[in-house]
Amino acid sequence: MTLTITPTQGVGAEITGIDLKALSDAEFQAIEQAFAEHGAIFFRDQDTNEDDHIAFAQRFGDININRFFGAHPGYPQIAMVAKEPGDTDNIGGGWHTDHSYDFEPALGSVLVARELPATGGDTMFASMYAAYETLDDELKSAIEGRNAVHSGRHIFGEGADTHYNQSDAGEGRIGNSDVAETLKDPVHPVVITHPLSGKKALYVNPAFTVSFEGESRDESAPLMSKLFAHVFSSHALHTRFVWKPGSIAMWDNCSTWHWALNDYQGQRRIMHRITIEGCALH
Ligand code: SIN
Repeated sequence: MTLTITPTQGVGAEITGIDLKALSDAEFQAIEQAFAEHGAIFFRDQDTNEDDHIAFAQRFGDININRFFGAHPGYPQIAMVAKEPGDTDNIGGGWHTDHSYDFEPALGSVLVARELPATGGDTMFASMYAAYETLDDELKSAIEGRNAVHSGRHIFGEGADTHYNQSDAGEGRIGNSDVAETLKDPVHPVVITHPLSGKKALYVNPAFTVSFEGESRDESAPLMSKLFAHVFSSHALHTRFVWKPGSIAMWDNCSTWHWALNDYQGQRRIMHRITIEGCALH
């Protein structure tokens, strides 16, 4: 087998010619480099069990045990991203970046498809490297040197109010709202220098970024919504990943957004997610 890295339209790269259960050090290095460069990496036809999933994720760093998602019954390292036929809402059903509400946001996540709907359930990704590069000069100068406040309380706390975690997505799938209520809101630069690639990336997202530092939510809204609208409407920055049995996606939380499409009502979709610890962003 020959490891091949093929960039996907918009963001990411598909990596073929490898078995994630039996990676050599050289193959792992190539994968790690592709991850830093492309922001999202996609694998097909992988026959991995939970132990293989954990072993692969651990090569990138320590595993973050998710505080809010239900855990796999046998593997606390694996967060369940599940939607049952009777559920209406899904987890991650809007553009977001995982863990920006942490002081040291997670580096990335490895998502494995375990049970897929017959139709739908794709995941969208967007490049925050390209989002920054394609901002016009006026927007670039408006955010130059600024910081933003991020929070998870309105998503995971009592009375969560967004489509990321609407009431029925919470039923047994999202918990620890009391822990969420104690989260302190971190401040991160609006434009980060990526810790792995050294490239600049836009680092605000519609789920967890609440305001610019020193401004109220209302004062921040006009500029913040221009940044979000730029990403929503710039389809050239987007990739739609169509899941198949054996598919695995790994995304970089610092340089991408993602969005789990919720277009498969009445069907089951079971995904296993492992998230890898990150570092403070500058
Ligand atoms: C997530 O936001 O972590 C879930 C992504 C997906 O289920 O496709």
